[in-house]
Amino acid sequence: MLGNEQIVFVGAGAMGSAMISALLSRSIVAPNQIIAADPRRDICDELVRSYEVNVSTDNALACKEADIIVLSVKPEVLDKVFRSLSGSIGSDTLVISIVAGVKLDALVEGLKHKSVIRCMPNTPAQIGKGITVWTESVGVSSFQHEQTKLLLESLGRQIFVDDEKYLDMATALSGSGPAYVFLFIEALVEAGVNIGFSRTVAEELVYTTIKGSLDYAMNSSKNLSDLRTQVTSPGGTTEAALRCLEAGEFRTIVSDAVSAAYQRSIDLGKNS
Ligand SMILES: NC(=O)c1ccc[n+]([C@@H]2O[C@H](COP(=O)([O-])OP(=O)(O)OC[C@H]3O[C@@H](n4cnc5c(N)ncnc54)[C@H](OP(=O)(O)O)[C@@H]3O)[C@@H](O)[C@H]2O)c1
Repeated sequence: MLGNEQIVFVGAGAMGSAMISALLSRSIVAPNQIIAADPRRDICDELVRSYEVNVSTDNALACKEADIIVLSVKPEVLDKVFRSLSGSIGSDTLVISIVAGVKLDALVEGLKHKSVIRCMPNTPAQIGKGITVWTESVGVSSFQHEQTKLLLESLGRQIFVDDEKYLDMATALSGSGPAYVFLFIEALVEAGVNIGFSRTVAEELVYTTIKGSLDYAMNSSKNLSDLRTQVTSPGGTTEAALRCLEAGEFRTIVSDAVSAAYQRSIDLGKNS
């Protein structure tokens, strides 16, 4: 549990609300330590109803006494947020940004503040099963580093990196990763329907197969290639399917897709 720190979420949409929910459900903070600052009255009302946290539609007022500020807004409103927070961030306050593609330098400069964390969470964070890669500006103290670790662990796993270049890589692999997995699941369900299953049965078969395979792989001492070979008898059904995937250059397509996301993340960062 954190101490009595006050945490302000600037932007309390999907990710901000998920973080608030995760922090409270793991008792890392009490509801009265949280302020959600968001222009959406419906979101604020829902947060009060569900979690009894404090809410505000005024960023500057909300952040005046903050120990930790979490920036969880879309990149396109960030300049407006910088302006709204000008002169309202205490010198000992830690700012944690989950805004995709915006670099540490741009955050430090835009906020005129030295202690800034940049992180890349992913959507499973919304159920506490995400993975967040994060880095920090030179002004972050070791105490603030530990605070961040604790906060991010409420979203799932966390990995600290001391070079910001890994943030772009993480964006391409784990940040965008859930979308690749969902696409693969969609394609597999569609394939099941095409050979004659009802959608309901195809979904149950595919979801359970993916979850079971993942749990099996994570609990096995064998590597992925050994596990694959184990289900691939020579001349059998799996071999027929895998030959088809390899002929379609499945691995190359996946690699190209991740490289495209990586390049896009670098390009977006140049404009931030
Ligand atoms: N969703 C994810 O899984 C995920 C994963 C990794 C990183 N991220 C990053 O997390 C950030 C937030 O994403 P999200 O999905 O939570 O977005 P979201 O659901 O749109 O939430 C953003 C919230 O901020 C509010 N807002 C707009 N302008 C504001 C301002 N000036 N001050 C305070 N709040 C303001 C928005 O209100 P309006 O709706 O009225 O604009 C909205 O309620 C993004 O930068 C995204 O790149 C998200």
